[in-house]
Amino acid sequence: MSENDAELIRANLEVVAPRAGELTSHFYALLFLREPSLRELFPPAMDTQRDRLVQALVRIVGDLENAEALSGYLGRLGRDHRKFDVLAEHYTLVGECLVAALARYSGDTWNQAVADAWGRAYTAAAGLMTGAADLDAAVNPAHWAGEIVAHERPADDIAVVTVRPDAHYPYRAGQYATVETPWWPRVWRAYSIANAPDGNGLLTFHVRAVPAGWVSNALVRKARVGDRVKLGPAQGEMVVDHRQVHPVLCVAGGTGLAPLRAIVEEIAYVGSDRFVDVFYGASTHSGLYGLDDLLRLAQRVSWLKVRPAVDDVALAGISGAIADVLAEYGPFYGCDAYLSGPPEMVLESSRVLRRLGLPAEQIHHDPVTLGFGVPPSAAAEAPRGRDSRERANAY
Ligand SMILES: Cc1cc2nc3c(=O)[nH]c(=O)nc-3n(C[C@H](O)[C@H](O)[C@H](O)COP(=O)(O)OP(=O)(O)OC[C@H]3O[C@@H](n4cnc5c(N)ncnc54)[C@H](O)[C@@H]3O)c2cc1C
Ligand code: HEM
Repeated sequence: MSENDAELIRANLEVVAPRAGELTSHFYALLFLREPSLRELFPPAMDTQRDRLVQALVRIVGDLENAEALSGYLGRLGRDHRKFDVLAEHYTLVGECLVAALARYSGDTWNQAVADAWGRAYTAAAGLMTGAADLDAAVNPAHWAGEIVAHERPADDIAVVTVRPDAHYPYRAGQYATVETPWWPRVWRAYSIANAPDGNGLLTFHVRAVPAGWVSNALVRKARVGDRVKLGPAQGEMVVDHRQVHPVLCVAGGTGLAPLRAIVEEIAYVGSDRFVDVFYGASTHSGLYGLDDLLRLAQRVSWLKVRPAVDDVALAGISGAIADVLAEYGPFYGCDAYLSGPPEMVLESSRVLRRLGLPAEQIHHDPVTLGFGVPPSAAAEAPRGRDSRERANAY
C-alpha cells in the first residue's frame, strides 16, 4: 500500500472514530439489507461483538508499515473465518458496505481519493484473507467437531472440560481454541488449551463461569459428558521456542494458568534444561485448585518452582496481587516471560517486568485489546507482547 493511501485511511479513521458504534451498526444494517442470508452467519445477538471488524481495521492501519505482521494477522483471520462459513464471494459485498458506511460517517471529509484508498486497502486485505483460507482448505477442515469426554467441577464456578476432537487437532502448548457450544450456535469464545499435545489427542479446557456469561456458563453448568462442541483452529503466539536456553518465567492469574500448564508440560516432554519459575495468583484460596499437578511435578524435578499467591492470605510468606509479588521477587534477567490471566493482571505484570528490566520482546502474552475507546495514555502504557492489539483476555 502506498504511503499516501495509508495517510488518507489513518486520517479518515480519526474522523469516524468518535462514531464507530453507529458506523458499525450502519454497516451491518446495509449488509443484511443487501444480502439477508448473511445474517445467519452471525450470532443471534451481536451487541458485544459488533465492533470487532472496526477493531480489526484499526489494527490493520496500525500495522500498515509492518507488511510481515499484517499478512500474518490477515492470514490467520482468513483461516479463522472458514469456521464462520464465510466464502470468498462474500468479501466484495462486505467491502462495498464498509466503504458506504465509512462515507456516511465521514461528513464532508469524504472524497474520491479516500474512497479509492479504502477500496485498494480492503481488496488487499481480503486477498490475503481469502488466499490463506484457500490454502488452509486444502489441509484442514473449516472447524473440528469433538465430544466432551470428561467434565469436572473443582469449584462451583469452574469446570475442567476434556474434549476428544473427531479428527487430529493440530496445536502447540500455550495456544487457545475457539469453541462453539450447541446451546449458543454461532457464538464462539476463546479457551486456552491446558495440556500439551500428546499421543491421546485429548484437549482440556479450564473454564470459569462469568456472571451472565453465555458460553462460559453453558460449559460450566450445562455441559455433560457426551455433549458435542465445535472447535476453531488453534491460535495464539504464546508458544515456547525450545531452541532457546533462557530460564522461563510463567505468570498466571485464575484460569489463565491453563496455557502455562501446557507450556510446562511441553518443556517436561521436550526434556530441555531450562529452569521454569511459575507464579500463580488467585483472589481466593479455592482459585488455586489447578495447581496440584504442577506442585507434584515440582516435587519430582529440580528445574521447576511453583509459587502460589492469594490476594489476602499469606502462603509460605507470599501474599498480595501477583504483580506485587513479582516486583518483590524480581529482577528476572534474561528470562522469557509468559503471562496469562485477566487483562489487568497481564497489563500490570508486564509493566512490572519491564520496570525490572525485561525487554518487551521477551514478554509474551495473548491478545489484549486496544481499539476505539481506549485513551491514548492507556495505549501508550499497554504491553508490547506479541499480538498485543487484538482483543482482551477475560479469565
Ligand atoms: C485468548 C483468550 C483465551 C481465553 N482463555 C480462557 C480460559 O482458558 N478460560 C476461561 O474461563 N476464559 C478464557 N477466556 C475468556 C473467554 O473467551 C470468554 O470471554 C469468557 O468465557 C466469557 O464468555 P461468555 O460467553 O461466558 O460471556 P459473554 O456472554 O461474552 O459476557 C457476558 C457478560 O459478562 C462480561 N464478562 C465477560 N468476561 C468476564 C469476566 N472474565 N469477568 C467478569 N465479567 C465478564 C461481559 O462483559 C458481558 O457483560 C479467554 C479469552 C481469550 C481472548
Ligand atoms: C477484510 C475483511 C474482513 C475483516 C478485516 C474481518 C474481521 C473480522 C474480525 C476481526 C472478526 C472477529 C474474529 C474473532 O473474534 O475471532 C470477525 C468476525 C466475523 N466476521 Fe469478519 N472480517 C472480514 C470479512 C468478513 C466477511 C466477508 C464476512 C462474511 C459475511 C465476515 C463475517 C464474519 C463473521 C460471521 C464473524 C463472527 C462474528 C461474531 O462472532 O460476532 N467477515 N471478522
